[in-house]
Amino acid sequence: MVATTEELLELHGQVRDCTACPLHLTRIQAVPGYGPVTARVMAVGEAPGENEDREGKPFVGAAGRLLTSLLESAGLDRRDIYITNIVKCRPPRNRDPEPIEVEACSHYLDEQIALFQPDVILLLGRHALARLLPGAGGISRLHGERLRHNDRVFVPLYHPAAALYNGGLRETLEADMRRVRGYLADAEAARARRAGGASASELRQVAAAPGGAQMDLF
Ligand code: URA
Ligand code: SF4
Repeated sequence: MVATTEELLELHGQVRDCTACPLHLTRIQAVPGYGPVTARVMAVGEAPGENEDREGKPFVGAAGRLLTSLLESAGLDRRDIYITNIVKCRPPRNRDPEPIEVEACSHYLDEQIALFQPDVILLLGRHALARLLPGAGGISRLHGERLRHNDRVFVPLYHPAAALYNGGLRETLEADMRRVRGYLADAEAARARRAGGASASELRQVAAAPGGAQMDLF
């Protein structure tokens, strides 16, 4: 575990008290993020909507339900993932966040990433992609791809809300989520190797070595 519960609660408290941009004037409450402190995967959306503003948790409306079922369809459990947004307060009438709001808020996201050190960061939609991988390209080209930047692994995905209105995108998102599952398995294996465990290929070499053939390594 990288983050501690105290650090995460402290950060959430700062977000809830934040008045650094005009969005604090119209919110019911800020939505810092939600998920276990042990999460190895982070998902980053755009901004809270009406339901999120009311409940104080991210992705609890229709887009959130679709996100949950997309994750499930790929064998992933939402309860293992820390979910947050680029801006933590709802823009009025769900308009796009203004650059000045993104600018004011993004240090919280940077701190969340630094706390969790996630294996994989899912970028839900073009706002998250533009903020965390500026200049990388558009979502229609990069969705489902695994991109390394600053020693982190990112996967841009279409925003689930877009798939609510476009059934074809839902299938694309399902296929991309299955790829995410593979990326997570790779990331876990890499972490195990870094922690000092032998890699599968090293084990295979041992198994193939003279006298090693009878060893049951797997
Ligand atoms: N859409 C988002 O981008 N974030 C939420 O939290 C909910 C809907
Ligand atoms: Fe603070 Fe971010 Fe909310 Fe603006 S959107 S008030 S910067 S928490």
